[in-house]
Amino acid sequence: MIFSRIVGCGGYLPKKILTNNDLSQNLDTSHDWIVGRSGIHQRHIAADGELTSDLGLAAAKEALQNSGISPKEIDLLILATSTPDNTFPATATKIQSKLGMGSGLAFDVQAVCAGFICALSVANNFIRSGQSKTALIIGAETYSRILDWNDRSTCVLFGDGAGALILRSEEVISDKNELGILSTCMHSDGDFYNALYVDGGVSTTQTAGYLRMQGKEVFKHAVEKLTAAANEALGIASMGIEQVDWLVPHQANRRIMDATSKKLGLDINKLIVTVDKHANTSSASIPLALSVAVGDGRICSGDLVVLEAIGGGLVWGAGVVRW
Ligand code: UT7
Repeated sequence: MIFSRIVGCGGYLPKKILTNNDLSQNLDTSHDWIVGRSGIHQRHIAADGELTSDLGLAAAKEALQNSGISPKEIDLLILATSTPDNTFPATATKIQSKLGMGSGLAFDVQAVCAGFICALSVANNFIRSGQSKTALIIGAETYSRILDWNDRSTCVLFGDGAGALILRSEEVISDKNELGILSTCMHSDGDFYNALYVDGGVSTTQTAGYLRMQGKEVFKHAVEKLTAAANEALGIASMGIEQVDWLVPHQANRRIMDATSKKLGLDINKLIVTVDKHANTSSASIPLALSVAVGDGRICSGDLVVLEAIGGGLVWGAGVVRW
């Protein structure tokens, strides 16, 4: 049988750091409120002219370097983003060209903060069906461009960044004790379309619009749906929570992450947290957190890692991987 093995990851953060104290200079907010409600201390902001494709390209280059894979070997590039460079073509094709892939297929997926899990799931299915041998999955976002900087209930929560992962097809005898993607699951419920959305768009206003969120509503769904998705993905992989080495959740809010860990019965020391330094980078948050925890030696080969995310749609999902 064919298995998707993870062979490298990378991340990129724009240079400019915006602290909570910086924000409180021009906005009726405070460091204490932001940390207390979300765990966020700072976020990175893309420079003028620095595009989502630039962030994604930098993360992809680091993942390629860490895996020792040449861009020419990549036959599938999936970019998860809800802040593309242009309405079309897919920003993934710009990254394909800048990387010098030469051939293969590149396209974007749009599942907001759950975009990376969605891209991982699609790439895994491409590999397992034999359609792709080496896949590059990127999450890259410039949310600073769709934030209403006068809306304190949303603008303090998000940041810019990118992360990338490379998957490779491997022939294995069985899926027992193999390294790679053991399971994924994805769900959506469009009845909550207005819980987290952007108030503009091509077909509606012909503007990019600004992010709007019913924070309490999303919070309520997040803990319940993330716990269910993680348990579902563990069940598909025939694994129990006691076997999990690391939980790498979408980094939206420290309170959601703590509550989900508790509900899952997971030791809080197994939770990877980057929301304090990166804020919510939407589809980039999981691969960025992975690149941090692999880089500092916490996530090691053979570790069982659970990934989970929820975002606008609502769309949510989880994945179980043996690193
Ligand atoms: O990535 C997609 C997933 N997104 C999420 O997971 C976000 C989920 N939601 C949340 O994380 C939380 O709901 C928030 C962090 C957004 C807000 O926390 P909350 O405990 O739900 O606060 P709240 O919205 O009920 O606001 C409480 C108070 C309000 O004042 P009043 O009405 O009680 O007087 C707000 O006006 O806090 C006020 N407030 C602020 N105060 C200072 C809202 N934003 C701020 C702010 N600084 N930045």
